[in-house]
Amino acid sequence: MTPARIAPLDLSDRVTDAVAVMAAAFGLSTRDSRERGVIFDRHAQRPGLVAYGAFDTGDRLTGFCYGFPGQDGGWWANQIEPHLAAAGHADWLRDAFELTELHVHPDHQRRGLGRTLITTVCGEATEPRVLLSAKAGETPARHLYRTLGFVDLTGPFRFVGFDTPYRVMGASLPLPG
Ligand SMILES: CC(C)(COP(=O)(O)OP(=O)(O)OC[C@H]1O[C@@H](n2cnc3c(N)ncnc32)[C@H](O)[C@@H]1OP(=O)(O)O)[C@@H](O)C(=O)NCCC(=O)NCCS
Repeated sequence: MTPARIAPLDLSDRVTDAVAVMAAAFGLSTRDSRERGVIFDRHAQRPGLVAYGAFDTGDRLTGFCYGFPGQDGGWWANQIEPHLAAAGHADWLRDAFELTELHVHPDHQRRGLGRTLITTVCGEATEPRVLLSAKAGETPARHLYRTLGFVDLTGPFRFVGFDTPYRVMGASLPLPG
């Protein structure tokens, strides 16, 4: 297996590769992948974007993570706000870094890439806290987040138009270690 390099990711240049990694890691349909490409294109233009990739020796993208400063009135903030408020955590939205995506291709998982990617991206955030939404079940992702100090800020809820239950998790920055 080839060694990995963690380096800044030019998301706008690698949207197709990022979608392919996410599709393999998360199990996306063709239609979901197409929609995800449109979203990644849009996110690539967000002010303050911090994006890192894991690359093999052939410069193939094997994992990626990105986020940006939270934006009042953004789709994600609007969706999670009532659930945070209901749990008494609405203040977490103020001045938070939004950790938007973290995916490692299944052929490259369990080698520390996911942990290195998220700690590297969060290490560049200037906000005092970080928020993310994760599938509500006991997944490897949620295990990883908890080891980094993330806590559940909401119970399970569904984003409008989606069936899968998610939870919002948050951590103070800088992350431990
Ligand atoms: C979550 C994900 C990014 C982790 O990537 P990774 O490179 O495998 O993670 P690491 O090797 O850095 O491991 C991080 C921790 O997760 C644990 N872990 C990773 N895969 C696991 C699995 N399949 N089962 C149990 N634990 C697992 C590791 O043991 C490690 O914990 P430890 O340090 O306490 O032992 C990867 O599993 C993934 O892409 N999953 C699908 C997409 C997804 O859920 N993304 C998150 C969206 S919110």
